[in-house]
Amino acid sequence: MAMIADDHRRPGSTGAVPLFVVFEGIDGCGKTLQAKMLAERLSREGFRVVLTAEPSDGPMGTKIRSLDIRPTAEEEARLFTEDRRDHVNRVIRPALKDGRIVICDRYVYSSAAYQGARGIDPAKIISRNRSFAVPPDVIFLLEVPVETALHRIRAGRSGGFSSFEDKTGLEAVDRIYRDLKDPAIVRIDGTGTVESIHETILRILRGLIRDEADSPECVRVPRGTKREP
Ligand code: TYD
Repeated sequence: MAMIADDHRRPGSTGAVPLFVVFEGIDGCGKTLQAKMLAERLSREGFRVVLTAEPSDGPMGTKIRSLDIRPTAEEEARLFTEDRRDHVNRVIRPALKDGRIVICDRYVYSSAAYQGARGIDPAKIISRNRSFAVPPDVIFLLEVPVETALHRIRAGRSGGFSSFEDKTGLEAVDRIYRDLKDPAIVRIDGTGTVESIHETILRILRGLIRDEADSPECVRVPRGTKREP
């Protein structure tokens, strides 16, 4: 088990629990429901939890959701990055500083995967975000076959704004997600039942919380020492 550098330690963090939890995956993977279930469960258990999402409900996120015409890939990457900068400053950092567990539905890797699928180098996107994006303690990446995801989207089980609903586009997104290498990523099979996925996520999170609580003197990294934002 390794410590991470002091500059990664967030103000207010006791190091006792992983505070910043991110959900990622292609449209239709079921992450929004899982993020909500986790937040509700932890709240019921007495944890102070903030459930949030990107694109955010701030000015830039609202702008993104209301666009009629899709911007160029570069412009889209810029808008999501600006939204994230605002979201980190306005919601994520203050909540972490306040000692809350933050559960965020989509984060840096959504930009890497979705804008990457439109031709921007994912590594470049990640490095642009690194300067300001607080690194998550754990990233639950829900994996489902593209066909399954599309089926769910079309059946209306995954409503809302979506960048890609065509197979080729979503396959490109999926490839980038599958190629990501980050010790904070925990890949979850998203084809199981909602309840069994929830229990798996909860079990992993409890393990991490227990790990951290064993060593209150340091902030621990779930797997290895190097973390992408
Ligand atoms: P999604 O989580 O599906 O939102 P909803 O709650 O409306 O279902 O995300 C909306 C879309 O935004 C999704 O298709 C992915 C896209 N997106 C990007 O393209 N880049 C980003 O950086 C983020 C955060 C999201």
